[in-house]
Amino acid sequence: MGKTVTLIHGDGIGKDIIDATTKVIEASGADIIWDKQEAGLGAYEKQGNPLPEETIKSIEKNKIALKGPLTTPVGVGFRSINVKLRQHFKLFANVRPLKSFEVIDSLHENVDLVIVRENTEDLYKGIEHMVTEDVAESIKIISKKASLRICNFAFDLAKREKRNKVTLAHKANIMKYSDGLFLKSGIEVANKYKDIQFEDVIVDAMAMKLAMNPQNYSVIVAPNLYGDILSDLGAGLIGGLGIAPSGNIGEDTAIFEPVHGSAPDIAGRNIANPISAILSGVMMLKYIGEFESALKIENALDTVLKDKEKCTVDIGGKLSTSEFTDAIIKKM
Ligand code: NAI
Repeated sequence: MGKTVTLIHGDGIGKDIIDATTKVIEASGADIIWDKQEAGLGAYEKQGNPLPEETIKSIEKNKIALKGPLTTPVGVGFRSINVKLRQHFKLFANVRPLKSFEVIDSLHENVDLVIVRENTEDLYKGIEHMVTEDVAESIKIISKKASLRICNFAFDLAKREKRNKVTLAHKANIMKYSDGLFLKSGIEVANKYKDIQFEDVIVDAMAMKLAMNPQNYSVIVAPNLYGDILSDLGAGLIGGLGIAPSGNIGEDTAIFEPVHGSAPDIAGRNIANPISAILSGVMMLKYIGEFESALKIENALDTVLKDKEKCTVDIGGKLSTSEFTDAIIKKM
């Protein structure tokens, strides 16, 4: 009996890239049953609720989901459903591996690092209000419990993946209490892992160092906002958002999704790059122990990506989303 996974196509290019991912996963031989659910702007327009109860119940039951991007209206309307899902299911770790592919034009080669972003607090708590008509206030929450939990997760990941260094990004020189607590927690955890190197870097310098020498980093752990910014910067270094996967991991539930958004500018044109979604699917397969299928997909992707013409247009190739997907399936 296969593992049941909640599947959310999402908005914009979500349908194209999630269909591509399920096709590739099915072709890999993984035994998965998809429990299709809705969320995002599409669900809001159809059901008047961007996060229907049925979707929440499905994830509660299956404890694992693969989702496409969800559109969030800017400035007005409902708050980000992605953030809501992460908070509801206490998915405290946002894991974003960044690995460069030789064929994809990028600023750097031989990049292989993982950004571990704290996913539940910081300014993303969404505690904000108008102090007066002309002054807004946002409250940044950093707790010792969440900081220790994410730093432990980062070191465990480093140990499991045989990575030799953890770098903690912060701004404790300015935010001495909040970022200071995050840094102190990181040092406390680092002391337990004597065989893994530890360093802390102030986040603005981190951005510069990452842009110049990403090969110097292996695992980067950061509070929510810095982690968000650094991971998009990192995606830019290896060829863009279209190839960066992610997993949101909690104690007993995990949601895997591409890093990029719903890309309304290219939606419905069958040109979106599905690599980010497919690699998120690979992360999911590894999480549930389907290592053989995961490896099969990774190898097929590596082989297809040896030929530049066989990529999607955003990375200089000529293939549509479905042609690229078929090429991967053929290689398996
Ligand atoms: P975006 O990531 O959707 O698009 C940025 C640029 O990258 C666009 O030019 C787009 O065409 C391109 N792009 C993104 N993914 C691509 C792919 N797979 N293949 C080829 N090109 C790709 O970011 P944007 O425009 O800021 O956001 C659009 C919507 O997505 C917003 O409503 C935003 O809130 C939402 N969003 C959702 C996320 C999620 O559900 N996890 C994450 C980020 C944004």
